[in-house]
Amino acid sequence: MSSLHADIERVLFSEDVILAGIDQVARAIVERFDGRDFTVVSILKGSCIFSADLIRRIPVPLELAFVSASSYRDKTTSGELEISFFPTGEIEGRSLLLVDDILDTGQTMSRLKAEFLARGASEVATCVFLDKPSRRAVELDADFKVLEVDDLFVVGYGLDFNGRYRNLPYVGVLRPELYGAAGGETDPGADEARSSEAR
Ligand code: IMP
Ligand code: MG
Repeated sequence: MSSLHADIERVLFSEDVILAGIDQVARAIVERFDGRDFTVVSILKGSCIFSADLIRRIPVPLELAFVSASSYRDKTTSGELEISFFPTGEIEGRSLLLVDDILDTGQTMSRLKAEFLARGASEVATCVFLDKPSRRAVELDADFKVLEVDDLFVVGYGLDFNGRYRNLPYVGVLRPELYGAAGGETDPGADEARSSEAR
């Protein structure tokens, strides 16, 4: 069986770089909540690996919850956000830290933030592993971000292409031929968004 590593054209962020960045963000999060209890809400599936590394670097009391959301988008509409699992009962009156793998157009994060506030969270801060500011379609800046990427489709460390590559320990760019005709820009994200899988 072939190795996943063979599909990667280049590594953008090594495991060491990723973990050093997470150390810094974890320290900033501790300062931000300043002794107040809070709940980390990990957006499945993409942020599960980041969330696991992040919370183990935050040495203060916190709770952990999960939300599962899929965005159905095509090139012309912003589409709907379908929430298939919501942590009802775990968020009312709580301060939340909403965690995602990547802030791309910003739709997922901004809609989920509004949803959590509407359903009774007392405050919602946002934290992303990767920020892709060039692709933003809604006005939203994450309160915390680990690393910034250009307009490139990346995989690994939780991020997938067609459900694969989440288990790579680093972030990399796929070999262009694996994306099909278009090459390595962000279109694979749109294709993935049309699948019914949780992003
Ligand atoms: P947004 O709602 O456009 O901000 O999209 C966020 C979601 O799109 C992320 O949670 C990812 O699942 C997916 N996504 C965006 N860019 C990439 C990428 O470069 N690689 C893998 N997934 C991506
Ligand atoms: Mg995702």
